[in-house]
Amino acid sequence: MKTALVILAAGKGTRMNSDLPKVLHPLAGAPLLIHAMQAGASLAPEHTVVVAGHGAASVRKAAQAHDETALVAEQTEQLGTAHAAGQAAPLLKDFDGTVIVLFGDTPFVQPETLETMIAAQATHDVVVLGFETADPGRYGRLVVDGETLERIVEFKDADAAERAITLCNSGVIACRSELLFDLIAAVDNKNAAEEYYLPDIVGIARSRGLSATVVTCDESETLGINSRAELAAAEAAFQARARAAAFEDGVTLPAPDTVHFAFDTVIGRDTLIEPNVVFGPGVTVESGATIRAFSHLEGCHVARGAVVGPYARLRLGAELSENVRVGNFVEIKNAQIGEGTKVNHLSYIGDATLGTQTNVGAGTITCNYDGVLKHRTEIGDNAFIGSNTMLVAPVSIGDRAMTGSGSVITSDVEADALAIARAPQVEKPGMATKLFDILKAKKAKLQRGS
Ligand code: UD1
Ligand code: CA
Repeated sequence: MKTALVILAAGKGTRMNSDLPKVLHPLAGAPLLIHAMQAGASLAPEHTVVVAGHGAASVRKAAQAHDETALVAEQTEQLGTAHAAGQAAPLLKDFDGTVIVLFGDTPFVQPETLETMIAAQATHDVVVLGFETADPGRYGRLVVDGETLERIVEFKDADAAERAITLCNSGVIACRSELLFDLIAAVDNKNAAEEYYLPDIVGIARSRGLSATVVTCDESETLGINSRAELAAAEAAFQARARAAAFEDGVTLPAPDTVHFAFDTVIGRDTLIEPNVVFGPGVTVESGATIRAFSHLEGCHVARGAVVGPYARLRLGAELSENVRVGNFVEIKNAQIGEGTKVNHLSYIGDATLGTQTNVGAGTITCNYDGVLKHRTEIGDNAFIGSNTMLVAPVSIGDRAMTGSGSVITSDVEADALAIARAPQVEKPGMATKLFDILKAKKAKLQRGS
């Protein structure tokens, strides 16, 4: 069955009280919109249409950064969810299959749930995703008769009996494309909000003798985010699930509540993640690695057996090979670190390639930025970089080469060579004693004077 996704993301999200469009607020390191797109992507849709309005340019950018094939329809005036979904019609005019409408502010819908909806769509004209809740709040209510969904009534328009219904609308709808846009065209805005409600297509379908039904899922999947408090609650729910999944995957987390995962964090089995570790987007940690306390990782790859931290920072493009050691107060960015190499203390390694079994001494810095351009540092295998070496890039250090502590290395160092680039030491016999005497005399004179 061919599918297309329509993701509604044009609303302002007034209750967020933000300049950023609601769907771009981040959850586990990715905009809410991307979570919805990812859920839908599991259906391998032929088309993904994002309906953008408020902050359309930035919503388009975020959508296409995640999936360059995503189409964007603009809804210039926010007249309601039916009107929003209708904006996708021109982009899907040649598409013949099932359309799934998702909301950009509803990040947790599970792929299996969407598959159940697709299956139900084979025997029903309109399929709505609903959920039972003890606290139905302002959600739309589903009016059912046996297996049949008769209509959806919005909270604002519901009477007391309808408000007592605890089966609610998640917003997710599945319907054949041609029928969907035909039903949307029949929706009016004669209601409390004077909006074109997408849920109204159910009542219209039933009045035409078409069938409609509900697929239900757990309430946790349908959490719609309308405020910062709901965003924080969603983050907590995401983190709780990520930690539980990590345990299942064989990850040891002695203080799980202090470890923060991103939407795409991948961690192998028999890894140890110590307390207070934060994963930004794009991190893969292979089996048997250890991430020690208070480390911050994003956009990086840590291979088997590597040990990172405590207090390490791995940034975009940090590639640690097997058994690498990265110690405290070390920052690594856009750098490949070869097998068994150690960068143990107080260093910055940026835009660099380091070979295998090399030792980088404390306080080493790759001076990669000249104020305008970035330059690379290359270090070979089995090299020894003395403590407090400044490597002024572009520069290369050969295999088995050494640099003296405190050197400022501005030219390439050949394999097997020792480079020392610091002022030679000068020794003046007895001078320390003389200097102390002069200084003490000075102090005594000052104290007499006061
Ligand atoms: C909607 C449903 C409600 C359901 C709830 C679930 C309608 C009328 N109501 O209410 O039945 O229980 O979701 O969370 O559909 N949007 C647009 N353009 C618009 C209006 C909205 O793109 O003109 C987008 C928003 O950006 C948002 C989504 O549609 O992503 C839902 O809109 P929102 O205003 O949050 O609907 P609810 O009032 O939550
Ligand atoms: Ca909502």
